[in-house]
Amino acid sequence: MKINSKSNKIGRNDPCPCGSGLKYKKCCGKNQSDNTTSLRDEYKRKYQIRFKTPNDIDGIRKAGIIALGALDLIESRIRPGMVTEEINTLVHDYTIQHHARPAPLKYRGFPKSVCVSVNDVICHGIPGNQVLADGDIVNVDVTPVLNGYFADANKTFFVGNPGEKAQKIVRVAKECLVAGMKMVKPGNTTGDIGWAIQQCAETQGCSVVQEFVGHGVGLAFHEPPQILHYGNRGDGFVLFPGMVFTIEPMINLGKRHLRILSDKWTAVTDDGELSAQFEQTICVTDDGYESLTPFD
Ligand code: MF3
Ligand code: CO
Ligand code: CO
Repeated sequence: MKINSKSNKIGRNDPCPCGSGLKYKKCCGKNQSDNTTSLRDEYKRKYQIRFKTPNDIDGIRKAGIIALGALDLIESRIRPGMVTEEINTLVHDYTIQHHARPAPLKYRGFPKSVCVSVNDVICHGIPGNQVLADGDIVNVDVTPVLNGYFADANKTFFVGNPGEKAQKIVRVAKECLVAGMKMVKPGNTTGDIGWAIQQCAETQGCSVVQEFVGHGVGLAFHEPPQILHYGNRGDGFVLFPGMVFTIEPMINLGKRHLRILSDKWTAVTDDGELSAQFEQTICVTDDGYESLTPFD
């Protein structure tokens, strides 16, 4: 019989060589996801997931404070008659004044410092001459970079007095983010996050956009892994302390399908119904999570 390297290895389901009669994985092979590497090492090497040190997390938290300050500023200024370009100016200047840089500006050719997405715009709206009207909903997505650390957060605001549909989609989108965040703890998986979000949306008659996902973040704008906002429990990556990623479900009042406008950025609902989104940068801790961009 030909000897290959495999035949030297003990399979996880083979009888344990210690003679216990148990499978290797239930006996001496416990805590070894394969013979040489742990799952965490595999995530680093095979999937380029970058686990953050306490120092990194501190840096991202400081960038997060700027993200929250920018969102608070917009919340205090947003009003009917405002032009979306003004939101760009406010976010840009606030970011620079706090010694950070707006990551969206010139990112893959994006022309502005913030994404501003109104009503049926799902995400990646480009600020410009659009005038906000009473009853609009507006998502503002900010990503300051401070000392090389990225924090990514967004909120959907009401302009003036919201109608019933606007109130519903904004409430459900916020509930979906919270449902996803609550799944974050070591041992759970990214699929658990997506599952919780999809349940939250669909049991309330809303739908989850599938073409855009959450993402690892902190040392770059978009890092692995992808965080799907839909899916099945137990799928995806197991969560480990030190992972930092966004959860940013885009929730539609109608169907989930989208179109991209000719500017190559603006994503709109195909059926023209409202879409809302909330995003936070989340760190997996030893016993759960910490938001590095906390708002409620
Ligand atoms: N901030 C968005 C996100 O949550 C990404 C925007 S990319 C840009 O991932 F180029 F449009 F800014
Ligand atoms: Co993001
Ligand atoms: Co964002």
